[in-house]
Amino acid sequence: TGAITLDPGYKNSGSCQSAITFLDGEQGILRYRGYSIEQLAEHSNFLEVAYLIIFGELPSNDQIVKFENDIRKYSIVNEEMKGIIDGFPKTAHPMGVLSSLTSALTAFNPKVVDAECEKDMYEAVCKTMAKFLVIATWTYRKAKGLPLNYYDNTQPYVDSFMRMMFTLPTEPYDLDPVVRNAIDKLFILHADHEQNCSTSTVRMVGSSHAGLFASISAGVSALWGPLHGGANQAVLEMLEEIQKDGGDVTKFIEKAKDKNDPFRLMGFGHRVYKNFDPRARIIKKAANEVLSKLGVDDPVLAIAKELEAKALEDKYFVDRHLYPNVDFYSGIIYRALGIPTEMFTVMFAIGRLPGWIAQWKEMRINKEPIGRPRQLYVGAPLREFVPMEKR
Ligand code: CMC
Repeated sequence: TGAITLDPGYKNSGSCQSAITFLDGEQGILRYRGYSIEQLAEHSNFLEVAYLIIFGELPSNDQIVKFENDIRKYSIVNEEMKGIIDGFPKTAHPMGVLSSLTSALTAFNPKVVDAECEKDMYEAVCKTMAKFLVIATWTYRKAKGLPLNYYDNTQPYVDSFMRMMFTLPTEPYDLDPVVRNAIDKLFILHADHEQNCSTSTVRMVGSSHAGLFASISAGVSALWGPLHGGANQAVLEMLEEIQKDGGDVTKFIEKAKDKNDPFRLMGFGHRVYKNFDPRARIIKKAANEVLSKLGVDDPVLAIAKELEAKALEDKYFVDRHLYPNVDFYSGIIYRALGIPTEMFTVMFAIGRLPGWIAQWKEMRINKEPIGRPRQLYVGAPLREFVPMEKR
């Protein structure tokens, strides 16, 4: 079998070839299918970017209208799914519920998706984009003890999401364009990020030829952790803690530098970006705009800015190339838009969904072999079995 190269965390190993996302960590460049995220965030919308990421090209007007209509067509979630959600305690974290419900979708949609059949794949994409959005809002409605809503076929994708989250179909509804644009932008910025932990998980699970929903459910679980998508919730909780503690950011910076303390500055550092995270730059600017347009004065934004400024001039963070990442400012916008803190990582998951789908599809079309890393064994050498009475 030859010598095994040890690379914990796959810091230097490429696991696949991919034509979806280009990332240059030194220069802080991120592109989906060749288009810069700066341009996409400025001029596009989430559904269009989802189409681009999954199918490879920006859609024509006819294609995007059809895509949106087809998503609506598949938005019904089986009534039995409500029984499943009822079994969870109200206190369950929405990410745990989302992962379970995504997996449960397999039971109600058992058809095996043939990634190489265009029609099959297109149908699976529309189904996933629709049903995942609905159950994502259900995780929140359940936690709040509110009735579960259905997809609103009269509204665009993002508007339908906000309606399902916050209002009953009988109530009047008119989404503020500032809110819609901010959510669109955040979803776009999260839509793919090449072989990150959750995406690698989706590809790994799918490489055993497990289905699309099962693979995505595993991706949701991977995203949940605080070192990955769970960081956005952790950032806001950290900022609130700093605020409650009197607002001394230096104290928390010193804590993060202390190697005997497990605390890290949440929303700081990245495996690949070593100069800046381009998504964080766009989100920081958007946070300022959204808060001022909505007339929200959130003291936590001032704390975040001070924390960033102080950390960026601290030798520890400079030496290790630690900069704010995508999760650092996103929570501040979510909060201004009325999204509760425990839903932040679910928002990330909705945004990342097109990436997971596209990567699963690419992995299957490229006929990648089953993911199966090797190891270096460091356990006991061969020894004789010891009978119970002699142990
Ligand atoms: N606060 C304090 N020290 C840090 C931090 C931090 N946030 N991040 C890294 N370090 C230190 C780390 O202790 C290590 O120091 P030393 O060389 O002295 O041992 C050095 O920087 C390198 O860190 P690492 O853990 O080896 O780097 P990694 O590439 O394995 O981890 C990371 C990357 C993102 C998991 C890590 O930076 C981290 O834990 N950040 C906080 C959590 C976070 O914000 N995650 C979101 C990531 S971006 C979006 C996403 O993926 O969802």
